[in-house]
Amino acid sequence: MAQASSGASERPTEDELSRAGLELKVEGHVARITISRPERRNAMTGRTWKTLAHIGQTLPEDVRIVVLAGKGDIFSAGIDLGMFTPEGVDGERSLVAGILDGSADADDVEAYIAELQAGFLWLRRPEIVSIAAVRGHAIGAGFQLALACDLRILAGDAKFTMKEPALGLVPDLTGTKPLVDIVGVNRAVEICLTARRVEAAEARELGLAELVVPVEELDGAVDDVIAALLATNPEAAVATKALLQQAAGNTLEQQARAEREAQVGRLTSLAKAMGAGG
Ligand code: ACO
Repeated sequence: MAQASSGASERPTEDELSRAGLELKVEGHVARITISRPERRNAMTGRTWKTLAHIGQTLPEDVRIVVLAGKGDIFSAGIDLGMFTPEGVDGERSLVAGILDGSADADDVEAYIAELQAGFLWLRRPEIVSIAAVRGHAIGAGFQLALACDLRILAGDAKFTMKEPALGLVPDLTGTKPLVDIVGVNRAVEICLTARRVEAAEARELGLAELVVPVEELDGAVDDVIAALLATNPEAAVATKALLQQAAGNTLEQQARAEREAQVGRLTSLAKAMGAGG
């Protein structure tokens, strides 16, 4: 199935990536995205998330795994705090300037946030498995980006903080649903409203990390998971992820029906392959 959805058809240029503080490497079935603004502790801007959306829109069809990591010893310090100043960052749209001078109404601001959220939402597509490889801090938008991924593999020094409420904001980059789905509403309230750090060991206990490994083993652990994921039949992987994603919203009967329908598709395709081979 084609990955590219509506919108951009040309892949982001090196210049666009660099201005967004991102690096992108696509090799075979694996795309690796690195948040790369080490001088700002990998803080991200609106441009970072719009470019992430662009990467998602133009991902080569045969990519099955997307890995997100931070350059150096930190995943991300979250949003670039300059985005909340009237001047914004590097000529980018400030999140408050339009409200301050009356040039942006609520609809404008919502539409802008929706554009930014698009950078996170594509990471759930059934055609890929997204992996956050987290070293050091993942704060605010950084935590939400890790939450946007299917899997989180953490180095022992990783720490998550949902800082937004402490700054007078809400987490609005698609993180609240996966957080509640994983830890439950009560723990999510506690984590968000205290803005405390969740260290790697606790993240593992809470289900916020699939795996926690020593720092020096992070890259190898990610490669092992990639190899295991790629060893699985690609079409079955897509169909299974789609099935699992709808389970929480379905009744048992609806889910059983969805399983049957998906399996008919799988059996038909396996039978056709046998017929073609025989
Ligand atoms: N936005 C802009 N600049 C940042 C950010 C950020 N989010 N985080 C760090 N920087 C800058 C610092 O201002 C500093 O710049 P300078 O060298 O010009 O003074 C540089 O990166 C290094 O930062 P330090 O604080 O010196 O690095 P340290 O390793 O001591 O601490 C940490 C790292 C813990 C990430 C700290 O920088 C921090 O708490 N940053 C702010 C985190 C934050 O509140 N993010 C917003 C969350 S809400 C959201 O994301 C929607």
